[in-house]
Amino acid sequence: MYNVREISPNIYWVGGNDRRLEQFENLFPLANGVSYNSYLILDEKTALIDTVDDAITDQYLENITHLMNGRELDYLIINHMEPDHCGNIENIVKMYPNVKVVGNTKSFTLFHQFYNMDITANQMIVKEGDELSLGTHNLKFVFAPMVHWPEVMMNLETTKGILFAADAFGTFGALAGNLFDDEIDYANLYIDEARRYYSNIVGKFGAQVQSVFKKIAGQEINMICSLHGPIFRSDISLILDLYDKWSKYEAEKDGVVIFYGSMYGNTANTADALANKLAQRGVTDIRVYDVSKTHPSYIISDIFKYSHLVAAAPTYNMGLYYPMDNLLHEMAALGVKNRKVALIGNHSWASAALKIMTERFASMKNMEIIGDSLDIKSRLKDGEEQKLDDLADAIASSVLKK
Ligand code: FEO
Repeated sequence: MYNVREISPNIYWVGGNDRRLEQFENLFPLANGVSYNSYLILDEKTALIDTVDDAITDQYLENITHLMNGRELDYLIINHMEPDHCGNIENIVKMYPNVKVVGNTKSFTLFHQFYNMDITANQMIVKEGDELSLGTHNLKFVFAPMVHWPEVMMNLETTKGILFAADAFGTFGALAGNLFDDEIDYANLYIDEARRYYSNIVGKFGAQVQSVFKKIAGQEINMICSLHGPIFRSDISLILDLYDKWSKYEAEKDGVVIFYGSMYGNTANTADALANKLAQRGVTDIRVYDVSKTHPSYIISDIFKYSHLVAAAPTYNMGLYYPMDNLLHEMAALGVKNRKVALIGNHSWASAALKIMTERFASMKNMEIIGDSLDIKSRLKDGEEQKLDDLADAIASSVLKK
């Protein structure tokens, strides 16, 4: 049956959940699914804002058919042309052949790359700052290029102050009936997944997120409707402040993320011993991850969250242990910067890991190496404890700002 909800007078959430998908973009694990949000405005004119992934087509079309109740759809607004949101454009155009499909030139270039249907006759091209009156509601188009695709736009409904924000402010995790931030424990249920979503998917484009902040500064915003996850209407500043920090690559908290690769447990032993020494020196919020075990998206998320990093890995095939190599590659691709970093290499007969990790972090912006990097030979021995104590001292004094 249909499954919709009015979120503001005559504005409806018409999306749905997919709890079966294993990996978002076939990359990022989904422990609790994902929602695809779409919004329908029933005014003198009718407008549908984005569509949904084809995984939930049946539910979606049932939602639309129920609310439209025989009316014509005047506008289909395409804020984002990634297939998790445009998977039903063709279906909507088939159902409402006279609909005006609203996008920018880049949206239509992408549409015609992804799909076979010729919608040239339906196209309505908008420019930055254009407005579309639906009767009592009015939509202003705010372009958000590279947040995180080039065609992305947002719509500010100017009479109520509702920002339809495309992917921005979204999260992994399906919705559970409660749509609004004040109906759920957002901080406990969604923030970690919102950060994982941001850092891995939008993280590279911090400067572009900051550009959007400048465009919407001073506008009255009372509600933020993302294409994934809950709608913000109570504590809007919570997510805006987090996005401001994340997009400036500023840590949310002082703390240490230790991520290690370890074939036989020897590098892991050093990492755990270091964590213990840091804790005994008063450092809190220490996170330890095995890069072979934990999906990199979770480690990247904590790298965005915390101020200090420790990377520890062995040499492998005269290079860097592959999972660490991959993680550092992802960090560089996402433009991670502004962290303090300690390094531990391990090797048994030829040292390469420490040198490669040092070079990788040097290639990222404002990554300060702290303490004397360790280069272990196979296993850190009891007699070498002083070296680890010295490194723990350097990290702890930096974290605790002593
Ligand atoms: Fe939710 Fe960029 O697609």
